Amino acid sequence: MNAHNKPNAPVLDSYWMPFTANRQFKAAPRLLAAAEGMHYTSVDGRTVLDGTAGLWCVNAGHGRRQIAAAVERQLSTMDFAPSFQMGHPIAFDFAERLAEIAPGPAGAKLDRVFFTGSGSESVDTALKMALAYQRSIGQGTRTRLIGRERGYHGVGFGGISVGGIVNNRRVFPQLPGSDHLRHTHDPAKNAFVKGQPEHGAELADDLE
Ligand SMILES: Cc1ncc(COP(=O)(O)O)c(C=O)c1O
Repeated sequence: MNAHNKPNAPVLDSYWMPFTANRQFKAAPRLLAAAEGMHYTSVDGRTVLDGTAGLWCVNAGHGRRQIAAAVERQLSTMDFAPSFQMGHPIAFDFAERLAEIAPGPAGAKLDRVFFTGSGSESVDTALKMALAYQRSIGQGTRTRLIGRERGYHGVGFGGISVGGIVNNRRVFPQLPGSDHLRHTHDPAKNAFVKGQPEHGAELADDLE
């Protein structure tokens, strides 16, 4: 066994970690080896409470047998079906079930589903849909994309443009026409209150 296949002492050079100070991390790595329920186990055997449900993507808990069994069942039946010009019944079935529970008033209910592989891809796709929609109704000059200061919308060019985290786009160009409204973080005025807060509507009115 060499250093490349020892799970407890991997070589850390090649993997360039996202949103992480790589040099500091690699000097004192925090490596996780297993997970069950709401806990991780680190490579040195410590139990760590997973207070953020993965990166907010393991909301049903770690190690759910039903999920593992369903994934195993599908992988061994058919591991991949193309979605260009071909399809698979389960994707259509899932879209129908999502549309059923999606919100929206009668006549304007969200009832169409476009699958993506990540939030960043979703945001870039949503921005494209917004531009394409305006164009298709003869309003092709409506091309402004408005986000909020401090907002996070992913790592693609669309996401960093409407996102309001300046460091994420410091060395990159923004999409043309993207701009930002002031952020909503004002604990003095907008701390949690019961019922309708007195402040906040003016932040929506900024768009007018
Ligand atoms: C509002 C919003 N948009 C986009 C993203 C980016 O998602 P992903 O990390 O899957 O690309 C996130 C992720 O936290 C998000 O919260």
